[in-house]
Amino acid sequence: MRSSFSLFAILSVLAASGVQASTKSCSAKTGTGSTPASLAAVAGASSAPGVNNLANATTGVDASSAPSGSASAPASGSASVSVTSDSAVVSPPISSSSGIAAVAGNSTASSAVDAPAATVGYSHTGKFSGVPDLDLPDIGKDCECGYKVKSLDSFYFRKRFSFDFSSLPTQTFSSSDALLDKGWIIKDSSSHVGGPSDVGNQCLGDPSSLSIEEGALQLTVKAGQTLSSNMKCPEISHTDPALHGVFQAEMQLSAVEGTCQAFWLNHTSEVTADELDIEVIGGTHKVMGAGGAGPGIYSTSWEPSDDPGKPNDIEHTHGLAPFPDIDTNDPTETFNKYTIAWLPSSQQRYYNGIAINTTTQYNAVNPMNATINNWSNGFAGWSGAFPTTDSVLKVKTVLFYYNTETEFDLKEGCSESDVCEV
Ligand SMILES: *[C@@H]1O[C@H](CO)[C@@H](O)[C@H](O)[C@H]1NC(C)=O
Ligand SMILES: *[C@@H]1O[C@H](CO)[C@@H](O)[C@H](O)[C@H]1NC(C)=O
Ligand SMILES: *[C@@H]1O[C@H](CO)[C@@H](O)[C@H](O)[C@H]1NC(C)=O
Ligand SMILES: *[C@@H]1O[C@H](CO)[C@@H](O)[C@H](O)[C@H]1NC(C)=O
Ligand SMILES: *[C@@H]1O[C@H](CO)[C@@H](O)[C@H](O)[C@H]1NC(C)=O
Ligand SMILES: *[C@@H]1O[C@H](CO)[C@@H](O)[C@H](O)[C@H]1NC(C)=O
Repeated sequence: MRSSFSLFAILSVLAASGVQASTKSCSAKTGTGSTPASLAAVAGASSAPGVNNLANATTGVDASSAPSGSASAPASGSASVSVTSDSAVVSPPISSSSGIAAVAGNSTASSAVDAPAATVGYSHTGKFSGVPDLDLPDIGKDCECGYKVKSLDSFYFRKRFSFDFSSLPTQTFSSSDALLDKGWIIKDSSSHVGGPSDVGNQCLGDPSSLSIEEGALQLTVKAGQTLSSNMKCPEISHTDPALHGVFQAEMQLSAVEGTCQAFWLNHTSEVTADELDIEVIGGTHKVMGAGGAGPGIYSTSWEPSDDPGKPNDIEHTHGLAPFPDIDTNDPTETFNKYTIAWLPSSQQRYYNGIAINTTTQYNAVNPMNATINNWSNGFAGWSGAFPTTDSVLKVKTVLFYYNTETEFDLKEGCSESDVCEV
């Protein structure tokens, strides 16, 4: 079992750029080892066959108001995505028709800074202008012919996963398969949770760090653990590997310092490094943390074609967004919606539907599992010192509309008018 060393990657970025960088979001786990079969269909231009037969692969941005050429996504002919020797190579580079974030480009810059064009900006309220907001209602039923999400330019998704943790009785967990029949894997000690510190301190999964209380899933980093390579932290993943989708979790963060609380997508293949994250460091929702993290929400994305076996070398970039309404809504006291939109030619993060500063680089191209975790490694530069009081991340609901490697086109026998509009 390989460990995840994102912290080292971060450190290298910190060293290179002097910027407080984000981190790999948190867990390590034996994957399915599946090699992407449908990569070619993934990252093509918006009209690429097989990607989607209902809409162009955009996230609803009017190209005329979009940043030209997505500043940080290299538009050179070398911007191909080469994942493995036996998987498809995507080229030429994606035109940024969506305007949000071009498909993973090949950036040789170690930490290219997102440099939005003039029409995209970030007001003091945190709203990322130039990108439409997201309205993601739960249609409340399964639609056999799939869904088109209006506010993602009617992008078509075959599947829906909606889960309300309040539907479960109050309980604690002791095994990784306790919620398997509900679509969740609880990580046990065979998985790492979060990255290692500079000296190798790291968490392993621990079912007993998760519970259902007060109608929510609670992910607790148990206080006062001795720093080691086998501390205990909570992590849970959706069991259906997705290839594109929109993933939303309604969560209440903890203000306790010393943890990384993350809702993110992690590659299921052992040979790629895809990862799209939303992360908040405990206690940095309003002000910068002692280690320089925050304030606000990090979006981090990782170069899919880099070698997951050399985590120190995985290129990644982040966007940092203050909570847009922090003066009136404290995310450690209320539940709020955190959303990752992952489309073939773009990625975007949202807070309560508001588009927030999102990195434009390193869009994922291979299947990933949606994951929630809460961890610490005691490293001052990221999670901060191990918490001295219990830190509890609460999750009320999740809502995903998504495709998979084999299910992405309009289902056979369905016509476009059968598709549910959300
Ligand atoms: C992501 O999943 C892979 C297995 O699919 C695992 O090896 C890796 O450690 C995970 N990444 C993180 C950051 O936990
Ligand atoms: C997708 O884009 C192409 C090229 O711009 C256009 O011809 C086509 O009508 C678009 N399709 C949809 C569904 O918007
Ligand atoms: C990225 O581009 C650089 C310079 O063109 C090249 O040396 C490197 O091999 C490329 N990396 C990938 C993963 O394509
Ligand atoms: C992703 O889901 C698949 C299918 O349930 C499962 O086999 C795999 O272990 C999961 N991977 C991770 C990293 O959680
Ligand atoms: C987005 O976050 C990055 C990383 O912190 C920052 O460099 C960039 O200026 C931010 N963009 C906007 C528009 O605020
Ligand atoms: C993460 O763990 C810390 C430490 O136990 C806790 O204070 C915090 O509430 C947890 N966060 C979440 C989102 O459960």
